[in-house]
Amino acid sequence: MIRVTYHGHACFSLESGGVKLLTDPFISGNPLAVVDPESLDPDYILLSHGHVDHVGDAIGIARRCGAAIIAPFELTQFCLRRGVEKIIPMNIGGSHREPAFGVKMTVAHHSSAYVDDAEIIYTGSPCGYLIGMEEKTIYFAGDTALSYDLKLIAEQPIRLALLPIGDRFTMGPDDAKKAVEMLHPDLVVPMHYNTWEMIEQDPEQFVASLAGLGCRGIVLTIEESLMLP
Ligand code: NI
Ligand code: MN
Repeated sequence: MIRVTYHGHACFSLESGGVKLLTDPFISGNPLAVVDPESLDPDYILLSHGHVDHVGDAIGIARRCGAAIIAPFELTQFCLRRGVEKIIPMNIGGSHREPAFGVKMTVAHHSSAYVDDAEIIYTGSPCGYLIGMEEKTIYFAGDTALSYDLKLIAEQPIRLALLPIGDRFTMGPDDAKKAVEMLHPDLVVPMHYNTWEMIEQDPEQFVASLAGLGCRGIVLTIEESLMLP
């Protein structure tokens, strides 16, 4: 059983047999987030790219609880220089195996840099992840546009796809529906919407639009979990 909990934006906890993965933990500064980042104690943090709404609290959480950060090579070096001790650098197309799960880094059509008031730091290519846990595959798309690369990603059966629907910076609901047609996952959970007015969408309308595609769309409210048997 995998417990999938939505913390808002692109941040999910994936828990299986005592091992916790956390994706893109943007909590502080997320107007919709309610979880206390100090209460999160993942074993691994997966980052899709260097934008602030994805790196978020990752460095603070990893420094506090010793989580390993899995990310594109340049982004892991960025984290290392900010005091993170355990890093697992990867790059697009590569796979890595840990005792409790495996990951493959997938293409995401987006951009990636850490932008603050002083500078813009290059953080490698943006990515998504195929996460293999308990014989099931979860696809975390990251921030991406629609592309035919999804057809390659769909060559393995996908139990759950976590897809952005916010539009403007990523695919919107219509393209996310086309993504579902290419990925044919069992379950779809939308993400990366309603955090700000710029990415306002109706997630219920999105999941309703998936009727007839042979998959189930589920809207998770903030801090809601689903169990993947
Ligand atoms: Ni982004
Ligand atoms: Mn984003």
